[in-house]
Parts: sequence; structure tokens; C-alpha cells
Amino acid sequence: MLKKMQCLMLILATLCEVNAYRYLLVSPIPGKSHAILGEALVENLVNAGHEVTYITSFIPDKLHSRVTIVDVSENIKRLPEEESFNITAIMDGKNKISSIAFLASLMMNISKDTIENPNVQKLITDRTQTFDAVISEWMFNEVYAGFAGIFNCPFIWFSSIEPHWVLLELVDEMPNPAYTATVSSNRIPPLTFEERVTELYSQIVGRLMKTFLVSGLEHEIYNDIFVPVIRNRHNFVPDFETLRYNASLLLSNSHLSMGIAAKLPPNVICIGGYHIKPNVKPLPEDLQQLMDNAKHGVIYFSMGSTLRSTNFPDDVKKELLEMFGKFKQTVIWKFEEQLPNSPSNVHIVQWAPQQSILAHENCILFITHGGLLSTTETVHYGVPTIGIPVFGDQFVNVARAVKKGFALKVDLSHTMASDLEIAIGKILDNPKYTTRIKELSQIYHDRPVPPAKELVHWVEHVVKTRGAVHLRSPALMVPWYQKLYIDLILVILVIVIILKYVFRYLYSILFTKRKEKVN
Ligand SMILES: *[C@@H]1O[C@H](CO)[C@@H](O)[C@H](O)[C@H]1NC(C)=O
Repeated sequence: MLKKMQCLMLILATLCEVNAYRYLLVSPIPGKSHAILGEALVENLVNAGHEVTYITSFIPDKLHSRVTIVDVSENIKRLPEEESFNITAIMDGKNKISSIAFLASLMMNISKDTIENPNVQKLITDRTQTFDAVISEWMFNEVYAGFAGIFNCPFIWFSSIEPHWVLLELVDEMPNPAYTATVSSNRIPPLTFEERVTELYSQIVGRLMKTFLVSGLEHEIYNDIFVPVIRNRHNFVPDFETLRYNASLLLSNSHLSMGIAAKLPPNVICIGGYHIKPNVKPLPEDLQQLMDNAKHGVIYFSMGSTLRSTNFPDDVKKELLEMFGKFKQTVIWKFEEQLPNSPSNVHIVQWAPQQSILAHENCILFITHGGLLSTTETVHYGVPTIGIPVFGDQFVNVARAVKKGFALKVDLSHTMASDLEIAIGKILDNPKYTTRIKELSQIYHDRPVPPAKELVHWVEHVVKTRGAVHLRSPALMVPWYQKLYIDLILVILVIVIILKYVFRYLYSILFTKRKEKVN
């Protein structure tokens, strides 16, 4: 019996061995939430038995033996100075980091730095390195598609947000702006006449910017940095435009419960929530007790990891404390500094296990900056929110949460304490926000397989089927003039013109003959 068991184990082990693939994960954006998503990808792939080489700006605390880190932490220096994330500056309208043009150029610089980084150069010039697939995070440009040219293997895009037209165009086609919204817009279909026109306008402007501003830089980076490396490995140098449109899969960190029911090709896989582990970590003892004993429930307040509390204006801090003190609920405020004269119901913690707090049944409200990870977690655990967006996609996320009916929005301002007081009152008094988030949470959880499993399945599927060409949308192959039937219109036009001349000719023959008769 023991022999048989050992034999079985051996067979299983060899089976696992056969199915172990080597992935290159390119996730070098120097932002904490991007790193959380990147690490979760690594973890899921490694736990499924695969090897991962991970290009990242943040070195994970715990390293699995099947993970190789390619350190690009130099990228962190590229970020705009602290000033940009200074909350007072943002309140006074002095920040620039929300502009798409600024982000696009920042990301282009980060892409170039990443590829030129000595550690990445060492990896790509090493001719013994091979991969079964490259997975790369998309961030405002497509230069990383060049990695697929180097390693001559299938390529997978990862998007930290819901698919938008720039991504859909890479795997399918531009979606119709009459019922889809661009990445930076917080409009939600159904759109009014004005909104439809604005969406059309921003798609056209965006497309022109991509073609005339971004594309040139991408080609430059590809030709200067990727092509020499590719030449050194094999004779075949693919065209950059071919690589750009050659992705096998688009993994999207989104889910219908939080987004819009968009038309998607079969190779777009939505895995929103994959970063959340099935079993939530237990709370530290003091927090556990605090939350267990909160008779009136717990309000959890956190502005995420990027904003520094020290930059909060003193009068706002004081007013927030006073305001929280008026409620009978227990307040857990994640803040990097202790504040004097805190009311007895307010507990300031330097570090907070966010998921464990949201998972506690007494957590009744989450006051958040509305980052996508926080939004996903709040839907996962079913807690209504008050969103105070600060930059980036937070505005869109909060606008959607409000429209979905589980959140209220408060502007970041010097008077935010009094606005927040009204919003908290509304959510505590009216159960509709909680009812709605519970409904969405049910939709979120009601999937045939958990998102992390789905992620692993499709990423393996790409390797097993050598690029999953069967999943690709035929729309990708059809040029825009064919989709609009411009060629048909031209053919009809030519026929009409020819017919016109034929008739004119026939007419002139008949007419002259008659004339002759008359004469
Ligand atoms: C495009 O992708 C397929 C499937 O991954 C691959 O076989 C092919 O070589 C790729 N084309 C280029 C030019 O890299």
C-alpha cells in the first residue's frame, strides 16, 4: 500500500513537473498598489508550480525559491517629488499628477528606464534565458511588447483597471463611444447626447495622440534598445506594430460587480479580486477586542499608502477628530502619527490590516480615497463607503461607486470634516447603502471559479495552446476602412461613375442618330 502511494506521489510529481512553466512578469511601476497586484500574480503562479522572473520596483518580503527578482527600484526616483502627493498642495489645487498627458510621459520615462536598467539588460542579453510566456502590465504605452520579440514567446497584457478603448483596441477593436467611457472619464452609460459627443471627441483625440505623439517614442525605444538584443539572439526581428497587436490574452483586474457590462472578446479575462486571499488573516489581539466590543459598529478611515498624514493641515486634523468624537461608533483611523486629545471612540493606528478590518462583521463603514484595490476589497467584504478621491483613477472609482449606490463622495478640502459628518450621518441613517453593497458583494462572489484560479487557468492555457490564437478576435485583422465599408462605398462610387459614362455614351449615340434622321 505504502509502495503504491509512493508510486502515485511520484507520478503526480512528474505530472506537475511537466506542467511547470517559466513566466516573465514585467510589473515595474513604482506604485504600491501596482506592486500588490504584481506580487499576487507571482504568488498565484508560483503556488500553481510555475517559475516566475519578476521585474519590479518593490522587492517582496518573502521570496519563494521559484521566484527570481529583477530589481528596478531605481524607478522610484522617477516619481515626482513628495510635493505632488502632498495633501495640502492637492487641497489647494496645486497638483499636476492627475493629468493624463503628465502620466503618459512619466510612464514612458519609466518604461525606458526599466528596459535600460542594468538588471533588465543582464536578463535580456543572457542568451540562456527562455520563457514560456511574458506577462506585462499595461501603463500608457506598449513598448513592453518588445519582450515577446526577445524571448519569442506568447505575450499577455495585464491591466490594473477595467478594460478601456486603448486596451480593447490591442486585442479587438475600438469600442463604440456611444455606450463606453474612456479611462479618465467618470461618465457611466447610458450617455446623454452631450456625453456621447464628448466620448467620441476624447476617443478621436486620444487615438491621434497615440499615433502622433506616443507611437514615435515607442518605435524609438524598440529600435534602439530591443532590436539589437533581438538580433543578438535570433535572425528574425519582428516589426513593432506586429508585436503590439499580437497579445494572446488581456488579464483585467476588474469585475462586473464594480464595472460596466462591456462587450469583450474571449481573450479578455476579468480577474478582479484575485489579490484577495480566500482566508483572511486574523486581526491583532487589540484590534480584535476593539472591534468585537464595538456595540454600535466600527467606522474605518484610511487614505491609503501614498498620502502622508504629516501633510494634513492641522486645522483639518483637529476638526476631523472633533467630528468623529460626535458619533457613538468606534472609529479606526489609519494615520501615521498619534494625535493629541483624541476622543475616546477614535483609535489611531499606524498600520492597519485593511482586509481583516473590512472582514469583521462590526465594520459598517469605510472612508477611503477610492483606490481600485480598496474598492475591490470593500465589494468583496460588503462594506459601504464614503469616497474622498485624491488622484488618478480614484475619481472614476468613486463616481462609479456613487452611481452603483453603495457610496457617497466627499471632496478633499479644508472643510471636509463637516461634509464628512453629513455623509456619515446619511449612511448610518439609511440602510439602502448597506443593502446595495451586500447585493453587489453577492454578485461579486457568485462566479463559477474564484478569480485567482481563473487567472492561473488562462495563463497556462496560453502556454499549452502555444499562444491561444483561437481566442483572438477576428476584428483585430480588419482595417478600419473595411469595418466602415469604405471600400464598398468606393466600389459603388466607381460603378456609378462608369454607368454614368456608359449611359451618357449610349444617350449620345441615340440622340445623334435621331438628329441625323430629323435632318
Ligand atoms: C504572435 O503570437 C503567436 C502566438 O503567441 C506566435 O506564435 C507568433 O510568433 C507571434 N508573432 C510574432 C511576430 O512574434
